[in-house]
Amino acid sequence: MHEALVDGGLIRKLWIGEAGIYRNHLLRLDRDSRHNRFGGAVSDEFLENYVTTIFSLNSVIHGFFVDGVLRGAAELRPLGPAFAREAEVAFSIETEWQSHGVGSALLERTLLAARNRTIKTLHMACLANNRRMQDLARKFEAELSFDFGSVVGEVVAPRPTPLSVMREIVADGHGFATAMLDVQSRMMRPA
Ligand SMILES: CC(C)(COP(=O)(O)OP(=O)(O)OC[C@H]1O[C@@H](n2cnc3c(N)ncnc32)[C@H](O)[C@@H]1OP(=O)(O)O)[C@@H](O)C(=O)NCCC(=O)NCCS
Repeated sequence: MHEALVDGGLIRKLWIGEAGIYRNHLLRLDRDSRHNRFGGAVSDEFLENYVTTIFSLNSVIHGFFVDGVLRGAAELRPLGPAFAREAEVAFSIETEWQSHGVGSALLERTLLAARNRTIKTLHMACLANNRRMQDLARKFEAELSFDFGSVVGEVVAPRPTPLSVMREIVADGHGFATAMLDVQSRMMRPA
């Protein structure tokens, strides 16, 4: 079960094995979007290497799909060792789908995933002149407080609850047995 979104698109997590579609999405970003996403000009070769690396880390990537094609993504990448309390978030939405609420929907799902992993601090790589990203972050001030000087946000409700874990599982559309295993392993993590 996935949420319907703008233009019949849907949001779901990317899985190992989907590095290729993520790479193709990043390669389709226009020059400005690529610049904003990576904080500067980066080459196609950089993107190839980046995707290989990101899929080998403990990242959670939510994707926005339209007609089966990945048009937007939000990365949540824990920083440091296992059970890290800090993570970096980054967004990429292809031009045609920008300003349609996709970033808002992806940030909502990313905040839920962060909460369920007891991540307390989110670093957002956002250029100072990226007003749209800052406007987007401000919409979630109740859950996330931002310091745009240091671009660090704090997740206000960092502890997972059975309900918040179930919300993520339902959104993922897992089977019940997998879901219960997932709940157990997450709830057993040290506080
Ligand atoms: C920045 C980005 C993630 C925002 O996502 P989005 O889907 O375009 O944003 P949304 O439609 O959810 O809009 C979020 C808020 O931004 C503001 N906004 C939207 N479109 C805007 C525009 N054209 N100009 C100014 N502000 C705008 C609004 O406040 C909006 O909230 P509202 O719809 O409730 O009014 C997306 O545009 C993007 O990927 N850009 C390129 C890469 C990038 O900049 N990444 C961020 C650094 S990691």
